Amino acid sequence: MDKLIVAGGARLTGEVAISGAKNAALPILCASLLTSEPLTLTNVPALNDIDTMLRLLAQMGVRVERAGDRVTLDAGALDNPLAPYELVKTMRASILVLGPLVARAGEARVSLPGGCAIGARPVDQHIKGLQSMGAEVHVEHGYVVARATRLKGARLFTDMVTVTGTENLMMAACLADGETVIENAAREPEVVDLAQCLTAMGARISGAGTDVIRVRGVERLHGGEHRVMPDRIETGTFLCAAAITGGDVRLTGTSTGYLDAVVDKLMDAGCELIGEKTARSESIHIIAPPRLRAVSIRTAPYPAFPTDMQAQFMAINAVAEGTAVIRETIFENRFMHAVELQRLGADIKIDGNTAVQTGVAKLQGATVMATDLRASASLVVAGLVAEGETHIERIYHLDRGYEHIESKLTALGASIRREHA
Ligand code: EPZ
Repeated sequence: MDKLIVAGGARLTGEVAISGAKNAALPILCASLLTSEPLTLTNVPALNDIDTMLRLLAQMGVRVERAGDRVTLDAGALDNPLAPYELVKTMRASILVLGPLVARAGEARVSLPGGCAIGARPVDQHIKGLQSMGAEVHVEHGYVVARATRLKGARLFTDMVTVTGTENLMMAACLADGETVIENAAREPEVVDLAQCLTAMGARISGAGTDVIRVRGVERLHGGEHRVMPDRIETGTFLCAAAITGGDVRLTGTSTGYLDAVVDKLMDAGCELIGEKTARSESIHIIAPPRLRAVSIRTAPYPAFPTDMQAQFMAINAVAEGTAVIRETIFENRFMHAVELQRLGADIKIDGNTAVQTGVAKLQGATVMATDLRASASLVVAGLVAEGETHIERIYHLDRGYEHIESKLTALGASIRREHA
């Protein structure tokens, strides 16, 4: 298995282009199932998870054409509404085909995603919502089996805020008979980006970005074009990489608009962040102090501090001035990176979903192991300042969500290389 070797000590400077958002592209790729006409997407990131989703759609009969960041999907010949375990087990987001398949094909067999390192990741809210819309859904032999002649609009209430749950139900509602109201909906920007793409395809959606989304079902959707939004978590990750090295970096093709909570915390930590906008593009300029102040965070659904940035902030806190408390309220097991950071010398005490950190002057390079996507990113961020080399193993996690991360960091002055084991 590949590993990354990071030599600490470089101060990051220069410019880096942010890619399209993984967590917007994944549901938007599934939206292609809702129509028999071609859907063309641009700014699609080159990630392993995107490759997996395209393979999953292709084996359903979707014609896929890809040229760089441009992808055209044509589900006109959709003939196999099945998401097999072999593909779903490598990417939980495969559950996002469930709603579109039931809505378009009237049936679906989707392998239960199963848990992952950060938690059990159940999909009961996805199932409950489809049942409320009249689908017959049961689980057999590890698969969610769903059938519906035509879904009916309904008033849905999710027990907790669920991002892909909201996305699945919003997509299913587009072709339902009548109006669907999703209460307690996720407000994440990726939900809004999906809604914008669906609207371009003829869907009638209002309220995306609020906690009440209304969808008036239509008979069919048509094809269209959509540019995927920038990846706000990649943006936040590179902001942390610049911050921890006392760097001066411009991130292009992205904006502070989706990351207020993260920007606020980086400013509390002592960074200067300037959002820049021209007629053609947007960017963020970050200038970091020689040493950050430790900042406490509490993760929660958007617009609060995103759980996908928690690990990266644990890394920058590790060498910051002072003590901070990190509280993880979304996932039950999202501190796996803490023990790896401790191997680098970080002072972290874990108590349930709370971590108490006191910054140390220096981390020492060591061999560490990536356990999930954002944990891997936090180890890269920490490795940038650890003395000597940090060897990060199992970096296939990283390749799922970060496009060419080592070349982007190298261009900013980092000393980082991939070793094929
Ligand atoms: C999405 O996962 C993201 N993935 C995650 O990003 C992100 O961490 C998460 O939202 C929270 O923001 C994609 O968008 C592809 P949830 P999702 O449903 O939708 C519980 C990354 O690093 N829940 O919002 O799976 C669940 O267990 C990934 O890019 C149920 O109990 O997360 C969790 O505790 C990691 N039943 C909470 O809700 C359900 O039916 C929020 O989960 C659904 C969710």
